[in-house]
Amino acid sequence: MSETNRTPTVDFDHNSAEHSVDPVASYRQLRKDAPVAWTEAWGGYWVLSGHDAVFDAARDDDTFSSARHEEFGVTGQAITLPQKPMALHLPIELDPPESQKYRSIMNKLITPKQVRKILPMIDKYVDMFIDELIETGEADFASLTGVPAIVTIDWLGMPMQDWRRHAKFHRDVLAEPLDSEAYRKATQEEMPYLVAQIEEAIQAHRENPTDEAISFIVQQEIDGRPITDEEAFSMIELLISGGVGTTASLTGQALVWISEHPEAKQQLLENPDLMQTALEEFLRVFSPTQALSRTVMKDVEFHGVQLKRGDRALLSWSSANRDLEDTKDNPDEVDLARSPNRHLAFGVGSHRCAGSHLARPLARSIITKILERMPDYKVDTDKAIRYERQGVNTGYQTIPATFTPGERVYKDESLSDFERAQENRAQAA
Ligand code: HEM
Repeated sequence: MSETNRTPTVDFDHNSAEHSVDPVASYRQLRKDAPVAWTEAWGGYWVLSGHDAVFDAARDDDTFSSARHEEFGVTGQAITLPQKPMALHLPIELDPPESQKYRSIMNKLITPKQVRKILPMIDKYVDMFIDELIETGEADFASLTGVPAIVTIDWLGMPMQDWRRHAKFHRDVLAEPLDSEAYRKATQEEMPYLVAQIEEAIQAHRENPTDEAISFIVQQEIDGRPITDEEAFSMIELLISGGVGTTASLTGQALVWISEHPEAKQQLLENPDLMQTALEEFLRVFSPTQALSRTVMKDVEFHGVQLKRGDRALLSWSSANRDLEDTKDNPDEVDLARSPNRHLAFGVGSHRCAGSHLARPLARSIITKILERMPDYKVDTDKAIRYERQGVNTGYQTIPATFTPGERVYKDESLSDFERAQENRAQAA
């Protein structure tokens, strides 16, 4: 019996090098041994790996809280384990009914109709990114991480000239181990600059409203009073940090897999409509957000185990996605036409991803345009490098690819124009 009296116990750490070698096998073993189990890693937490346990926990905010709780020592980012020293994010770090006040703003901001308006902008940036690579015949597809960053920054109404810094920051926070120099630099040196940028953008949108997302947010009311700068910041920061790395991870993993499966690539080239179900399947098998955490709010029996008030719990979306009723016979197979496919890659319950209407067309545009413009691309899978740790976020930090060189779409414009604009402004000043 565990020293904390919680059973069953397992020897498991989702942030460990051992787990990162093969997270799929690691979770398969857990589901077999105990779909809800206690581990002593990181001060102790329950690992929920079975689909039903993850599904039930995510839909029970009264028992599984997403909020910070000083009384239990949860003072950093509550939904990651270990807690990261990040700014408060809204609505993801509140429970209903409080969270709904912010969530309803996001729901109005990111509707399929609103996203349709920015589809031409998305396609343009994807083409401009491919333009940067297409004449060379070889490239690191991980640079496409920049697409979600630049789209998000433009859509929000942030200054464009720093898009590369945003892209790099999110890549480092996601890909680098918590104890690495790159992670320290990103969170301690780069973050203050990017935070100041968001704060300045909030002021600029308050003074001169536009039809962009930040203007929309700063004009909202909470409980009948104007939203504060701090609340607006917490929402904007979440929109950037929640959407950039996740969408990049999905596209990177999908591009590697497609390269490894030429017959699937051919099917997608011949039948572009297949991308609709294929994208859901990529979400299911690759699960960019592998697992997020909660705090247990009461002593309760849950799926046959006894939880205690104040316990931490890890909900593994990725493990649940290989334990779905829809995939009973072949959970590890990638079936591009799978339907139904009720995966939990976007979570489930009151915090289900608020950005899925944007994530899908963004990922779809990147994958489709790569297939159209670089149909013979091939990833050197031996040299592709995964994130060092796969516990919370999974994906590739390097994806070396070769392809037959092609022509630019935009002959007179390039992504570097944004940085040049910045340099010109600096020189003028
Ligand atoms: C493939 C891409 C994406 C994946 C896999 C993903 C995954 C998730 C997951 C698993 C959650 C649930 C969190 C929880 O229950 O604790 C979530 C929430 C959220 N996501 Fe995404 N996400 C993606 C893209 C995006 C994008 C593009 C945006 C913004 C533009 C976004 C914004 C959010 C927000 C605001 C929440 C919090 C919702 C709330 O608390 O009510 N996500 N996402």
